[in-house]
Amino acid sequence: MPTNGNRRQIGVGLIGLGVVGSGVARALIERRDYFARQVGAELVVRRAAVRNLQKPRAVELPPGTITDDVDAVLADPAIDIIVEVIGGEEPAGTYIRRALEAGKHVVTANKELMAKVGPELLADAHRRGLDIMFEASVGGGIPLIAPLRRDLLANKISSIRAIINGTTNYILTSMANHAAVAEALHRQGLEPPPGGYEEALRAAQELGYAEPDPTNDVEGYDAAYKLAIMATLGFRTRVHPSQVHTEGITRLSAKDFEAARELGYAIKLLAIAERTPEGIIARVAPAFIPLSEPLARVDGVYNAVQIHGDLTGTVLFQGRGAGSEPTSSAVVADLLDLAHAIVLGTRERKYWGPEGDVPVLGLEHLETRYYLRVKVTDRPGVLAQIARTLGDHEVSIAAVNQKETDTHAQTADLVIMTHRAREGAVQAALREMATLPVVVQVSAFLRVEG
Ligand code: NDP
Ligand code: HSE
Repeated sequence: MPTNGNRRQIGVGLIGLGVVGSGVARALIERRDYFARQVGAELVVRRAAVRNLQKPRAVELPPGTITDDVDAVLADPAIDIIVEVIGGEEPAGTYIRRALEAGKHVVTANKELMAKVGPELLADAHRRGLDIMFEASVGGGIPLIAPLRRDLLANKISSIRAIINGTTNYILTSMANHAAVAEALHRQGLEPPPGGYEEALRAAQELGYAEPDPTNDVEGYDAAYKLAIMATLGFRTRVHPSQVHTEGITRLSAKDFEAARELGYAIKLLAIAERTPEGIIARVAPAFIPLSEPLARVDGVYNAVQIHGDLTGTVLFQGRGAGSEPTSSAVVADLLDLAHAIVLGTRERKYWGPEGDVPVLGLEHLETRYYLRVKVTDRPGVLAQIARTLGDHEVSIAAVNQKETDTHAQTADLVIMTHRAREGAVQAALREMATLPVVVQVSAFLRVEG
């Protein structure tokens, strides 16, 4: 190991110097002495690979550090740890495998890669006596991976319930706030401005919270990757993102937020994985959650994760799930952990141990309550037909409310809350309902979680 005076040095190679990479480099430079005291070695950024050498950088590195040649970083013998912060499945996966082949530890913030092939990468690293650390892949600066891998290890974890995507939580919070204003305007007989999904997304993009292409966030894929990682670690069995039932937020309307508010609920994009006696059920979808629940009060770009262990009971983690500084906090924590292990000469560390294959069940096995909004023709006997269709499928109505009658079109919106029912039965009832001549449209279908 090289030294600086009598201080040992550990070489770090960054692949990616964008939002996260530059935050990591800045922290390593500005807190170098403090980190060295904590782990017994200096962490030195030796090389940083980017795509475009002409781009201005948010951090100043010694001349010659930045390169557009990833091979030069992977092959550098003075680099002990590779930090992959480019994102996406490829070429990131290839770079990580090559780093392991070259005998280097890896730190990554890459949720997509870790969700899809994390267990294989971890097993590969373990065989080589190396580590892959990925705290930043879920929840930015919120400690989640270390608690799931280590601190909660004594527990049987039965559920993970999370708001794990800041972009969508910001959009949903805007839509909920608009619903509150709309309610006040309605009371005064005034027509509120549109407060739909499109308006909220545009505002989020203008503020820089949502990316120009927001697909991964608003369609729920980002949250599904994060849930798959947490469920895999927590339940100690493989949960692939393709096994996470995933719905986005794009079809929500201002009417749903108004209904939720009246009924005492928030609408959140919830990522939930539960272990039932038959298997695991994992889902990401916008859902009603009672306002009394802690997750209902997590607003804006904040994330929160509730984990239930049999020994701990419910523990709640909350904080900033994205951004340069919170995310670099997680990456640097992993770097310090690895540096400490290198200094101590510890190689064989427990990575993640699967405890057999637990089946991941389809959503038809889920049992919960449901919110339905159905546009119907406004004439006698319609409600009875809707109730009969649900009843035929053993779905019992808890409350029904006729909203917003359009006298010109002779239609009305029915808002229905059900008692607990099997998702398979509700879906079958909805399919049948959609064929009734009196039903114009099944406009919304949301689970009531909690
Ligand atoms: P950015 O787009 O800001 O930065 C990506 C960096 O990677 C850029 O420096 C880019 O180079 C470089 N890069 C991309 N492709 C290549 C390539 N093939 N070879 C070399 N360099 C490449 O991304 P972020 O920093 O925001 O995200 C990085 C990772 O962190 C992702 O996995 C993301 O999901 C994760 N993450 C991000 C969070 C955030 O708040 N941003 C939060 C939590 C996780 P160039 O600059 O030249 O274009
Ligand atoms: N796009 C993610 C979010 C941040 O909005 O939460 C990176 O994980």
